Amino acid sequence: SLFRSVKTLAARSSAARGFASESVPDRKVAVLGAAGGIGQPLALLMKLNPLVSRLALYDIANTPGVAADVSHINTRSEVSGYVGDDQLGQALEGSDVVIIPAGVPRKPGMTRDDLFNINAGIVKSLCSAIAKYCPHAIVNMISNPVNSTVPIAAEVFKKAGTYDEKKLFGVTTLDVVRAKTFYAGKANVNVAEVNVPVVGGHAGITILPLFSQATPKANLPDEDIMALTKRTQDGGTEVVEAKAGKGSATLSMAYAGALFADACLKGLNGVPDVVECSFVQSTVTELPFFASKVRLGKNGVEEVLGLGPLSDFEKEGLEKLKPELKSSIEKGIKFANDN
Ligand code: NAI
Repeated sequence: SLFRSVKTLAARSSAARGFASESVPDRKVAVLGAAGGIGQPLALLMKLNPLVSRLALYDIANTPGVAADVSHINTRSEVSGYVGDDQLGQALEGSDVVIIPAGVPRKPGMTRDDLFNINAGIVKSLCSAIAKYCPHAIVNMISNPVNSTVPIAAEVFKKAGTYDEKKLFGVTTLDVVRAKTFYAGKANVNVAEVNVPVVGGHAGITILPLFSQATPKANLPDEDIMALTKRTQDGGTEVVEAKAGKGSATLSMAYAGALFADACLKGLNGVPDVVECSFVQSTVTELPFFASKVRLGKNGVEEVLGLGPLSDFEKEGLEKLKPELKSSIEKGIKFANDN
């Protein structure tokens, strides 16, 4: 896990100072929206990641304070804060991985799609800057609706002539994190050992956890699988309602975002067999973008893995999600081309 590797490396680096920086390549990570509810704890977690050598924190406001604060932590990376459009280029230049949690979160009664108009514009302008200042960076898109913001990013990069489908990822890790937690609770197994692929998209019924492939096996009855599926699909709403107007998931999202960025960095560094679910350009179904297991490597996506065997319930869920996911993808493409 992320925390195990952070701990081990911290222990090692105090025994052999300099070891990590000599053997681990330099990697710059930029966080766009770094002063937000997700951005701040994500900045903290990326500061704890020994694979990062430079951490650039960008937002339209408040980044100097966040950067000064995080920079005092005695770990490897050098932290810089950037604020406002004028400093975006500097924040991005030389980045290996750009993580985007910029935008507005949901309030009770809102769907992820309700965020579309504001966040689509933010994502579009940030991606234009990425195309200009760090066209080869891996992009981790957190801003919702991910089902549309990833296609928007792809269109922006295509227009700029920099699109590399292997380097654009919609972050769906929080769906996997939730599916693992909820499954472990219901199946009464050690949560640290649980694996559950989650495929499709990142909103409501487009989130399709494949509990038939969950390990350790638990042979849960159908009604438990149905309840777990629904809870995973509505996990975000559970948090939005509990926060009662103060936003959506931030802490669990920061954890999930840090985990996914760490997997991207490991892939870049040539660590073998790094597999995570992500929403990527895909031929797994007839839809142009789809979340499934992805093998990460030195160029980003090494291989988009198939769905594996599905239960009848999952097959039905897959057919049901396709029209909604298709229209969210098309909405993103249309926005990028009309604006
Ligand atoms: P927040 O409102 O607390 O923070 C957003 C930050 O983005 C603010 O600091 C704001 O100043 C900044 N921002 C706005 N426009 C910007 C721009 N043009 N450039 C750079 N920064 C800009 O919101 P929160 O809770 O951190 O959520 C951020 C996004 O993440 C939302 O779109 C939310 O829906 C999404 N999200 C995604 C999840 C996922 O699983 N992929 C889970 C939870 C949230």
